[in-house]
Amino acid sequence: MTLTSLPDADHEPLRGGPTLRWGVLAPGRIAASFVGSLNKSTDQKVVAVASRSQERAQQFASEHGIDTAYGSYDQLLADDSVDIVYVAAPHNEHARLAHAAIAAGKHVLIEKPIATTVAEARGIADAAAHAGVFAMEAMWSRYLPQATIVAQLLADGALGEPRFVEADFGFLARFDPASRLYNPELAGGALLDLGVYSAWFAHFVLGAPRSVHAVGSLAVTGVDQQSTVTLTYDSDALAVVSSSIIVETPVAARVSGTEALLQFPASFPGPSAFRLAVHGGETLEWRDTSGLNWNEGLCYQAVAAARYVSDGLKQSPLHGLGDSIAVLSVLEQARAQLGAL
Ligand SMILES: NC(=O)c1ccc[n+]([C@@H]2O[C@H](COP(=O)([O-])OP(=O)(O)OC[C@H]3O[C@@H](n4cnc5c(N)ncnc54)[C@H](OP(=O)(O)O)[C@@H]3O)[C@@H](O)[C@H]2O)c1
Repeated sequence: MTLTSLPDADHEPLRGGPTLRWGVLAPGRIAASFVGSLNKSTDQKVVAVASRSQERAQQFASEHGIDTAYGSYDQLLADDSVDIVYVAAPHNEHARLAHAAIAAGKHVLIEKPIATTVAEARGIADAAAHAGVFAMEAMWSRYLPQATIVAQLLADGALGEPRFVEADFGFLARFDPASRLYNPELAGGALLDLGVYSAWFAHFVLGAPRSVHAVGSLAVTGVDQQSTVTLTYDSDALAVVSSSIIVETPVAARVSGTEALLQFPASFPGPSAFRLAVHGGETLEWRDTSGLNWNEGLCYQAVAAARYVSDGLKQSPLHGLGDSIAVLSVLEQARAQLGAL
C-alpha cells in the first residue's frame, strides 16, 4: 500500500464531554500531576482527596482547589459525591485500595501497574465485574493522540506485518533503600515501575507473547534494578523490552514491519513524536503539538474514562483488564526469572 499521509488522531475531546466527580487516594507526586492535568485541560471535577494524614490531605486540597480533604482513605470511599476513585498509592497498595473502592460501589482508575501480580489483577477484575463498576489501569500512554494514530496504522496494515518491536525506559534513581523504587515492601524495581511501559508497548503492537526470557540484575535490596526481556510470539515476531533505575536510556520505541519502520526516538510513553519510514516510499513525521508536556498528558485517560462510564462500559475498550493482566504476566515472569523480590 502507498501511504502518503498519516491518519488524524482519534481521541475523546478534552473538554465538552461527559464529566465525573473524582476522588483521589494517596496524594503523592503522580496524584499532583494528575489533578494538575485535569484542572488545566479538562472539565473533570476533582471533588475530594484523601491521605493517611489530614494535614497532607488539606495541604493538597488547598494547592489544587479541591473542596474536601479527608484524613483517611475510608472516609473518601464513604463520600456519596465521589463517582470514581483514582488510586495513586505505591504499587503494593493498588489491589487493596482498588478492592476497597469497588466494595464502596465506586468506579476506579488504578495507577500502573494495576497490581503487583497476575492473581491480584484477576481479583480486581472479578470484583469489579461482580460489583458492576468500571475499572481501568491508568496506562495513560494508550490514550494519547499519538497512540490513537499508531493504533490506526497497525489496524490498517500500514506497517505490514510487525516482526520486531523494541522499547526501553530507564532513568537514574538515587539509591535509597526505603524509597518507592528500591524498597521491596513497596513493590519497587524497574520492571513494575518502568518496564510496565516497555511491556505495554510490545503488547499494544503484538499482543500476548508465547515466551518470556529475562536477563538483568538486582539491587542490594532485592528488587530488579535493570533488565532486558526478550519476548517471542506465535507469529514468529520478537520483542525486546528493557527497563532500568540505575541508568538513563533513550526511552525509545520501535516497530519494524515488513512494509515500514515506526520509531519514537524518545519519551514514547508521553506526548512526543514519531517517524514512519515506508519502505521504498515516504518518511512521514508526527509531532505532538498540544503543548502538553509529559505528565500534563495524563488528562487524556481521564476524559476517556468519563466517556466509557457515561456510555455504560465496565472496562476500557483500548486497554481493558485483560490487557493489564497480559502485561503483568510478562512482568511477573520476568521478575521471577530474575529472582526479584
Ligand atoms: N503515570 C505516570 O507517569 C506515573 C509517574 C510516577 C508514578 N506513577 C505511579 O503512581 C503511583 C505512586 O507513585 P508516586 O511517585 O506518586 O509515589 P509517591 O510520591 O511516593 O506518593 C505515593 C503516595 O501514596 C501514599 N501511600 C500510601 N501507602 C503508602 C506507603 N506504604 N508508603 C508510602 N506512601 C504511601 C502516600 O500518601 P499519603 O500517606 O499522604 O496518603 C504517598 O504520598 C505508583 O503506582 C507509580 O507507578 C505513575
